[in-house]
Amino acid sequence: MIGVFDSGKGGLNVLNEIVALLPEYDYIYYGDSKNNPYGEKSDQELMKITSKIVANLKNRGCKLIVIACNTATTRCMRRLKVLFPELIFVGTVPAIKVACDKNYKNTLVLATPATIESERTEELVRDNKKEDQEIYLVPCYGLANAIETNNNSKIMKILEEIYQEYQHKNIDSIVLGCTHYPNIKKEINTYFKDIPLLDGSCGVAREVKRQLELNNISSEKIQGNIIILNNLDD
Ligand code: DGL
Repeated sequence: MIGVFDSGKGGLNVLNEIVALLPEYDYIYYGDSKNNPYGEKSDQELMKITSKIVANLKNRGCKLIVIACNTATTRCMRRLKVLFPELIFVGTVPAIKVACDKNYKNTLVLATPATIESERTEELVRDNKKEDQEIYLVPCYGLANAIETNNNSKIMKILEEIYQEYQHKNIDSIVLGCTHYPNIKKEINTYFKDIPLLDGSCGVAREVKRQLELNNISSEKIQGNIIILNNLDD
């Protein structure tokens, strides 16, 4: 059983990629919309929330946990690995490495404030950015929650502000550093026309496959069921 969670519906984009690659496994998905947004919470709050979810998924028989959320990955994954050494974790981080490897020169990274301010994001920039590349880190206050609650006017207002600030920076790629943002690709491209949008979900799916093989989880009795939970007490 593979457990996947996020602060709501964003992680479903990641789950789709994983299921497309590995349709024969069983999955439990938990969308924690009642605690959305994660991206504007303290580390202490995030650890309390995410460790409770992981413990619950573990009790339901999950051996591998996919943190389908950049915020929870960049702020909590290292500590969750220490708290649950018996579980395998696969996280989601902004696709900064992909942008740098593809040699884009001016990359806009859209993510939650907590992801943007994390040490993990700092590391990703430090380890991958070449001298002739610019990475603009944009903390998108309110955007994940506007997507979670289908607040279209707020989504457009936030994107308009980002566009006003970065329209003259010759942006040639945009990293979708929050799993909610693939839901608004069309809206982002209304402002930043024809600019490639990079999201890390395919890489997460490949890493899940690699970890399953590495840990011999592929040999389990499997049925291909997907359970979506809206409440952990269900
Ligand atoms: N979807 C999450 C992420 O990838 C979190 C959004 C939020 O709850 O702030 O960062």
